[in-house]
Amino acid sequence: MQQSDIKNKNNSADISSAEKSTENSASLELRNVCRGFGDEWSREEVISDFSLSINPGELTVLVGPSGCGKTTLVNMLAGFDKPDTGQVLLNEKLITGPGMDRMVVFQETALMPWLTAYQNVVFGPKIRNDLPGRELKKKADYLFEKVGLVEFKDKYPIQLSGGMQRRAELARAMINDPLVMIMDEPFRGLDAMSRELMQEFFVRLFEENRRTNIFVTSEIDEAIFLADRLIVLSNRPTSVRKIIDIKLPRPRELNVLSSTEAYKYKRDAMELLHEEALKNFKRSTPKADS
Ligand SMILES: Nc1ncnc2c1ncn2[C@@H]1O[C@H](COP(=O)(O)OP(=O)(O)OP(=O)(O)O)[C@@H](O)[C@H]1O
Ligand SMILES: [Mg+2]
Repeated sequence: MQQSDIKNKNNSADISSAEKSTENSASLELRNVCRGFGDEWSREEVISDFSLSINPGELTVLVGPSGCGKTTLVNMLAGFDKPDTGQVLLNEKLITGPGMDRMVVFQETALMPWLTAYQNVVFGPKIRNDLPGRELKKKADYLFEKVGLVEFKDKYPIQLSGGMQRRAELARAMINDPLVMIMDEPFRGLDAMSRELMQEFFVRLFEENRRTNIFVTSEIDEAIFLADRLIVLSNRPTSVRKIIDIKLPRPRELNVLSSTEAYKYKRDAMELLHEEALKNFKRSTPKADS
């Protein structure tokens, strides 16, 4: 993917409903949420009395130690899983299951390998019979332009690079006009260059539509580059260690990461993550005399 490619895609005059400014942007809330796994005797509490408000129209990034429960939180926000106790709310209404108002993009590709990129993108609205054929095509064409995949829409997932697959997945999520996008380490596994390009591409999309976004990552630079608010999580049972408001200017360019402000945010977050990693290390290392 060329950088110029990404920028050109942002100039499209035909703004479909998929990309209208999201006056419908939503708030999310986790209220005193607990979630554990295992049976009575070997139960482990992963999330314990966890509370967090996610503001409408913001890009909220969750960063935390590996295995601390980020995907568990994502699954509850998406409605794929339920808390044992506590509540998960969308616009102050209880989330009771998955819904078209929340779209999730995971690290693992969820594209159907037997369908082309285009067929994957229109699959959901087509089986739901959401839109007349012509409108659906117009919307899909617009989104393919937006994600820079016009020339690749008839390719099968296996013929696309990792970055292209992720962009096809973004289009597939966006065609449903969700109120919230939930991204669980979507760029993990991409090579460094593709990852940077995807970050720039994604930040542009967000800055245009200002849809409520929850983005999980373990990459601190990625977190700071994207975030309006950075939520630093602790080890299991997960709690919020700190909320850092990232007041870097938008539109953001990658070189913002070399600014003094970005460096301060990074140091702040790294210190906390380091402390959490040390605690985890001590917990899992047997004492010499035992
Ligand atoms: N369905 C499940 N059944 C049993 N244990 C689970 C289940 N889902 C998650 N866990 C456990 O909960 C803990 C947190 O898992 P989770 O995948 O949420 O962490 P994570 O922060 O997303 O990790 P990573 O950084 O590796 O993506 C892990 O110990 C995991 O084994
Ligand atoms: Mg995870």
